[in-house]
Amino acid sequence: MRIQEKARARCQWLPALDKNQDTLYLALADQLAADIAAGILKPGDSLPPQRLLADALGVTLGTISRAYREAERRGLTEAKVGSGTRIRGVQSDEPKFHHLSKADADSIDLSLSIPIPNPARSEYLAISLEKLANNPVALRQVLAYQPEQGNLQQREMLATWLTQHQLTVSADELILTEGGQHADFLAMQALIRPGEAVASAALTYPGMIAVARQLGLKHLPIPTDAQGIRPDALERLCQQQKIRLLYVMPEYNNPTGEQMSESRRLALVEVARRYDLLILEDAVQYVLPDQRGTPFYHLAPERSLYIFSVSKIIEGGIRFGALRAPTNLMPRLSASLRAQCWSVPGIVGALVCQWLESGHVDALIDWQWQEVKQRQALLQTLLGDYSPIAHPYGFHAWLNLPEPWRASILSKKPKDKVLR
Ligand SMILES: Cc1ncc(COP(=O)(O)O)c(C=O)c1O
Repeated sequence: MRIQEKARARCQWLPALDKNQDTLYLALADQLAADIAAGILKPGDSLPPQRLLADALGVTLGTISRAYREAERRGLTEAKVGSGTRIRGVQSDEPKFHHLSKADADSIDLSLSIPIPNPARSEYLAISLEKLANNPVALRQVLAYQPEQGNLQQREMLATWLTQHQLTVSADELILTEGGQHADFLAMQALIRPGEAVASAALTYPGMIAVARQLGLKHLPIPTDAQGIRPDALERLCQQQKIRLLYVMPEYNNPTGEQMSESRRLALVEVARRYDLLILEDAVQYVLPDQRGTPFYHLAPERSLYIFSVSKIIEGGIRFGALRAPTNLMPRLSASLRAQCWSVPGIVGALVCQWLESGHVDALIDWQWQEVKQRQALLQTLLGDYSPIAHPYGFHAWLNLPEPWRASILSKKPKDKVLR
C-alpha cells in the first residue's frame, strides 16, 4: 500500500481507471484520449514512467505497456528513446501531410496516395482539350466569371454521374471546389468558428488536421476500434465539450483502412442528432458502388456534407471536386467560396464534364480496379503474415508492425534486413 501511495504522489498523470473492465489497457488508452480531449493533457506533456504508473494504479507493468502502445498506435503519443512518452503535437505547428518526394531513380515514391499511372489519362486530356478548342460557344462560356456555387450545367452533369453511381444528389445540393482538400477547408471555414471543436478518428487524414490548425479550430481525437470511430467514445466527448463537426471516412479510413458497418453509421448518426453535430464525410478515396455502405448524407441529409473529388480517378493535378451539403447551408458555403476565389475555374469543370460524359472516367475506374486487385494480391503475398489492413479498392494499406519495429526504423531499413 505504501508503494502505491508513494507512486501516486510522484505521478504527474493519474487517470481514473475502473478496474472491473475486461480490457484494462484499452480503458486506460481511452482515458488518455479523453484527458487529451478535455485539455488535462496537452501536447508535449510527458506521461509517467510505465513502472511508476503501474505501481500507482495497482496494475501490472504489462497493462501499462499495452496501453502506451495502443495510445501510440492511435497517434495520441510518441515514444522517444531516452525521453519517455509524450503527448503528440508540439514538434511543429504544421502536420506533415504533404510529401512530394524528390525524384530518385532508385526508389518508388510511396508517400502519396495517387491513381495508378496510365498513358490513357494524357490521351483523354488531349481529346477533351481539342473538343473544347473546337467549340466556340463552350469557349465563350468558360471565359466568363462563374457563379460561386459553380456552373449550373456542370453541377447538373456531375449530379447525374454521381446519381448513376449510387450517390443520389441534386445539382442544387452541390458546390464545386478545387478538389477534396479545398472542400475540407471550405466546409470548416464556412461552418465552424475559430475556437470551436471538430472531432475525428484518432488516426485520420492529416490534411484535415492541417485545415483545423489553419482555421484555429480545436481538433479532438476519438478512440476507434475495428470499425473506426466508437459511438460511445464520441458520446463521452460530447458530454465533456461542445463539438460542432464530426469528420468521418466510413468506407476507408485514411490511413488505417477500417470500414464502418451500417449499424456503426446509424449509431454515429444518433449521437450526431442528440448533440446537434454536423457530419463531414470525406470520400476523396474513391470506392466502387458495390463496395460502399450508405453514405451519411443519405442517412442524415439535414446535417451531412459529402466530399467528392476526381483526384483518385482522373488525377490530382486537375484540382476538381464537389461538396454536397444541405441547401440551407449553401448561402454560407457560397459566400466563403466567393471570398476565397470567386468560383472554381469553368474551364476545369468543362474538361472534367467531358471526361464524365464520354465514359472516360468510368473506363479508368474499371481499369484501375483490375490493377488494384493485382497489387492487393501482391501485398498479401509479400506481407500477408502481418495482416495488412487494406480496402479492396485501396491505394494504400495499414500495417501493424510487430514489436520491436517502429515505422521510422522500418522506413530506413537497410536492404539486407528482414522484418521479424
Ligand atoms: C481523405 C482525403 N481527403 C482529401 C484528400 C485531398 O484530395 P484532393 O487531392 O482532391 O485535394 C486526400 C488525398 O489523398 C485524402 O486522402
